[in-house]
Amino acid sequence: MSSKRTEELLKWDREHIVHSRYGIGGNIGIVTDKTHGIYFQDTDGKDYIDGASQLLCVNLGYGQKEIADAVYKEMERVQYSMLFHGFSNIASIECARKLGELVPEGLDHFNFTSGGSESIGVAMRLARLYWRSKNRASKTKVVSLYDSYHGTGHGGLTATGSGRGFYEKDAGPIAGGYIRIPSYYCYRCTFGLKYGTCNMQCARFLAEVIEKEGAESIAAFIAEPELGVGGMIAPPPEYWPLIRSICTKYDVLLITDEIMTGFGRTGKMFAVEHWGIKPDIMVMAKGITSAYLPFGAVAFDGDIWKELQGKNLVSYTYAGHPTCAAAAVKAMEIYVRDKVAENAASAGRYALNRLKQDFEPLACVGEVGGLGLMLGIEIVADKDTKATFDPNLHIMQQLQDKALEKGMFIRTAEITSGPGDRICFAPPLIITEEEVDKALDILYHILADLKPK
Ligand SMILES: Cc1ncc(COP(=O)(O)O)c(C=O)c1O
Repeated sequence: MSSKRTEELLKWDREHIVHSRYGIGGNIGIVTDKTHGIYFQDTDGKDYIDGASQLLCVNLGYGQKEIADAVYKEMERVQYSMLFHGFSNIASIECARKLGELVPEGLDHFNFTSGGSESIGVAMRLARLYWRSKNRASKTKVVSLYDSYHGTGHGGLTATGSGRGFYEKDAGPIAGGYIRIPSYYCYRCTFGLKYGTCNMQCARFLAEVIEKEGAESIAAFIAEPELGVGGMIAPPPEYWPLIRSICTKYDVLLITDEIMTGFGRTGKMFAVEHWGIKPDIMVMAKGITSAYLPFGAVAFDGDIWKELQGKNLVSYTYAGHPTCAAAAVKAMEIYVRDKVAENAASAGRYALNRLKQDFEPLACVGEVGGLGLMLGIEIVADKDTKATFDPNLHIMQQLQDKALEKGMFIRTAEITSGPGDRICFAPPLIITEEEVDKALDILYHILADLKPK
């Protein structure tokens, strides 16, 4: 039973607030009141393990007082200072310096934004501006992946391939000049091939598309190093090196979207480090401030920087907001000092072992996988045929509801808007092995009770 206060808050919320990816006029029935460690607490004092770092953004967990203090100090000093018209501020300069120490070598030129979708917009603009500046103005098209998510701003929405049209269904028409190709989802390979004997057709398909469309028409290829919203799906190890060499061969800029994978999530500071590749443009947000404040960044390489000297890149009012930049500087200090990526790697290894040993044998689990603490569990109604549950049963919503009842938040990717029914396990990166066990115990009992239909 909820308290009177909670009921009042929920009623007001239902009548006035629109929630993302939830029916307008409704809410799930939880109002967050406090947060601590890997938990958020509702207005009736119930704690929930945050099994997804909310939107895979609260990488450092809750209650990092040092970030709050840094933000307060900066806001007391400078409340706002634009980066327009050549003006600058100390927090942004410190942030660029700090980021420069963390990103792959050579990517130390930055534009700042207020979040993921804006950063994707900047990356698209940057890529086109670059080719125009090189007198190759016909290079404008952007290739992206089905099953990808790049946000809901116009450029990002158009690149987003998750749900194969789901996100643009009622928001179209989408922008022209974008091409989507199959993703690297081995469990349900679009080409009907098997990893090991597939000759990496998904990566090679990029070369085929570039050749047929004409390399002189393609500006960039954009993808997530591991599919996030699509369901925590890691690529086969050969994928990214091959993609890098195809982009180089055809003079196509490689944009990696590290909005979800960045800042330790996959067990490295940035996911591209797993394969030792360097993108031309790298997009960041979410974990950059551990989501304590909205902020994003686009890093790009020295060639682009040199080419664009003296050119104009229009940007956003809150780009380089000093308060947000100060939060990012402090968050980055904590990532390095507390070896957060290293903890994500070891806690992730521990969790994946348990998922493989205990969960994979369950009747409703098709496969488990992922990097670091960005793990996915495929839910199927039939392991042999890989058939999913009837979408009308809303199994994933039921699993989420059960987990909430037992005090844990899980995020899911559903077959209606993603490539499969998948549960995401992506807690804050400061999680201990004991806490991993506590979370996975809850999930195990829920999944063990789910019987194939
Ligand atoms: C990989 C990726 N790109 C872009 C975005 C969009 O970011 P935002 O919601 O901050 O606009 C997201 C958000 O989940 C994401 O996961």
